[in-house]
Amino acid sequence: MKNTAVTFRAAKAKGEKLSMLTAYDYTTAKLVDESGIDGILVGDSLGMVMLGYDSTLPVTMEDMIHHAKCVTRGAKNALVVVDLPFMAYHTVDQAVENAGRLVKEGGAQAVKLEGGVAFHDQIKAIVTASIPVMAHLGLTPQSVNAFGGFKVQGKNIKTAQQILDDARAIEDAGAFAVVLEGVPTLLAKKITEELSIPTIGIGAGDVTDGQILVYQDLLNMYGEMKPKFVRHYAEIGAQMRDAFARYSADVKSGAFPDNDREGFKMDESILSELH
Ligand code: KIV
Ligand code: NA
Repeated sequence: MKNTAVTFRAAKAKGEKLSMLTAYDYTTAKLVDESGIDGILVGDSLGMVMLGYDSTLPVTMEDMIHHAKCVTRGAKNALVVVDLPFMAYHTVDQAVENAGRLVKEGGAQAVKLEGGVAFHDQIKAIVTASIPVMAHLGLTPQSVNAFGGFKVQGKNIKTAQQILDDARAIEDAGAFAVVLEGVPTLLAKKITEELSIPTIGIGAGDVTDGQILVYQDLLNMYGEMKPKFVRHYAEIGAQMRDAFARYSADVKSGAFPDNDREGFKMDESILSELH
């Protein structure tokens, strides 16, 4: 059954946890979908894990649409949410236009944006255009320069109150769900209890209504450091490196390919007829 913004809200009402992962291409989206994951995020994290930038800031609308198209073709049952990239939703008009492009050109079922009180009007306008919005609060990576680095948010009264106010504002604006990233577990618990829409945590403890991870983190195939909130469910990076190295060694030694098993035959008499 196809997950939607409506089934996501219903899951919270029923007390069912929601599982989400990122994906950025057809092959991975299909594997994630077949695994029974409830939702796929085409995150602007693709700027880092797919495009090799050191932040999400350079990501464009064209990048998001390109990857969204690939993912939506592979996602039969999972809800597909697509990120609005940095500076694509600064004004209300721009927010509606770009959310519309993610749906019309990218095939998104919902869009996600980073922000709370300050983006109330943008969220409301997008929702009014019948596009479901997932909000994103806490350690919002598009604000890396304003935060002075990737740091947990909401550890003191001032920032905790701001995030709680933001959570109330995005629900009021009509968001159907919210990602809580890099916030203390106790704050995530307070927000999850107060809101009627599902909270999806990443580095927010086990108290949220769902969880999301970047799939390269879960498979340990990106970067050297492991953020505290990541759990490695497989060592795919090491497996890929090992497989690529063994293939390379076999090519150089002549062990790959094997003509009987991996080559194609032709009647030898044809050779003599060639001129
Ligand atoms: O871009 C992304 O992958 C995200 C998730 C980490 C929530 O926004
Ligand atoms: Na993102």
